[in-house]
Amino acid sequence: MFLPKLVNMGLRLSSRLGHKSLIGVGNFQRPVTRYYWPMNKLTYSTTATEAHGIQREQIETISVTFVDKDGDETVIKVPIGMSMLEAAHENDIELEGACEGSLACSTCHVIVMDVGQYNKLEEPTDEENDMLDLAFGLTETSRLGCQVIASPELDGLRIALPSATRNFAVDGHVPKPH
Ligand code: FES
Repeated sequence: MFLPKLVNMGLRLSSRLGHKSLIGVGNFQRPVTRYYWPMNKLTYSTTATEAHGIQREQIETISVTFVDKDGDETVIKVPIGMSMLEAAHENDIELEGACEGSLACSTCHVIVMDVGQYNKLEEPTDEENDMLDLAFGLTETSRLGCQVIASPELDGLRIALPSATRNFAVDGHVPKPH
């Protein structure tokens, strides 16, 4: 008896409120205004600039210069977390990467041009060192491009592409026993 009366009261109140609706339980119902925004008024932004006043691009990418065997430089933006091999491929820079980053070749050999920057890199693993030993034109600051991962402290990294690479699998070279 009491419950239907309460429901009716709620309905009457709801219709009087128009765009408002009721939420809550039993006697503790309260009107809540709901806002609807037409889909065609929704806007999207491609950077975080408007929301936070900060350029997202500045936070999430670093600048890397690739210097090819002729000395020509290509400066690209590399997202944090991306390897130099992937970055090179995305930007049509000639860096082979025959095994696609699985540490089974040395065709992604790159030379870090600045010792200070080289020292900021993570230490190479034994597997990387083993592959580097097979690289053509190995230097003190050589690394495998697929193992150099963009991080904020590497902003401004300059890496040289060696004049040649050696791919034992493709070249058909069989190492001689010692
Ligand atoms: Fe083969 Fe980097 S792509 S080791």
